[in-house]
Amino acid sequence: MRLALMASVALAGLTMNAATSRAAEELNLICSADVVICEMMQQMFQTDTGIQVNMVRLSSGETYAKIRAEARNPKTDIWWAGTGDPHLQAASEGLTQEYKSPLLAGLQDWAKKQAESSGYRTVGVYAGALGWGYNTEIFSQKNYKEPKCWADLLDASFKGEIQMANPNSSGTAYTALATLVQIMGEDKAFEYLKNLNANVSQYTKSGSAPVKAAARGETALGIVFMHDAVAQTAEGFPVKSVAPCEGTGYEIGSMSIVKGARNLDNAKRWYDWALKADVQSHMKDAKSFQLPSNSKAEVPKESPKFEDIKLIDYDFKTYGDPTERKKLLERWDREIGANAN
Ligand code: G6P
Repeated sequence: MRLALMASVALAGLTMNAATSRAAEELNLICSADVVICEMMQQMFQTDTGIQVNMVRLSSGETYAKIRAEARNPKTDIWWAGTGDPHLQAASEGLTQEYKSPLLAGLQDWAKKQAESSGYRTVGVYAGALGWGYNTEIFSQKNYKEPKCWADLLDASFKGEIQMANPNSSGTAYTALATLVQIMGEDKAFEYLKNLNANVSQYTKSGSAPVKAAARGETALGIVFMHDAVAQTAEGFPVKSVAPCEGTGYEIGSMSIVKGARNLDNAKRWYDWALKADVQSHMKDAKSFQLPSNSKAEVPKESPKFEDIKLIDYDFKTYGDPTERKKLLERWDREIGANAN
């Protein structure tokens, strides 16, 4: 009895110690990539450093809104991944913290440029081009022709067959909106989106959801980053990815430390760690096929390569600006969201 009591007291002491040391060594992370890579990164970092990571997965636009809402009392230390535009928007509003990682010099130019243009309040962690993925079985059953161009997606035969995300919550969909505006001009792009709306069955919250739905036969086609379509193919689903013939935009997936982070040292440790070549080379293990930002990281063979895609000269300065974002999203809500099916 006495022994049992002593043992439980000792155990309580141990638990308390563990809890106290955990409280000192933790990191609050928002992850805006796919949940599988988010969880893998969380585990890897915990194993490498012993720091407990409290992670939530939120889409890029949702994260930006949360960090803005919590600016006076930040609950997040670091925001890893998600499209670069909202990271730039947060940077320009002073919501994120300036930091120059010692690993900056070893990054691809596009990743360094992202850091420089934000006053070192964000940095590129990966890149990927926008396109779509379609279900080849549905296409052959229904005798659909492969849409090779943005214009082809307006074909009346695709009524109710397309999904894309909502650009308010999703960085992927915001990239699509900004891409179309850059290719066509704003009025023509909204005209295009109105016509496309007739074919869209659903605007999802997260960016990759449309191609996951296509993979499972719930829709014929999803407008997504090409690497998200390739991930479904690699999972064994009948999905083919397409790079639009008119040209397309791309993301510089980014990472930012939140201004006022409570665990600033741990946030910097994550930041430097996530820029390492060997860490980025592991991303493919979670079927995350973006192009890594560390120039020494391995580029997965599955990754859609920029050389093979007609890319536009995406204007990150303009479309990463909070005023432009607000204007485009308000117009999208008025003209498209309000008339969604
Ligand atoms: C997927 C992609 C990422 C991208 C992210 C944006 O996870 O693999 O490359 O950054 O979507 O997510 P969101 O839900 O904001 O569109």
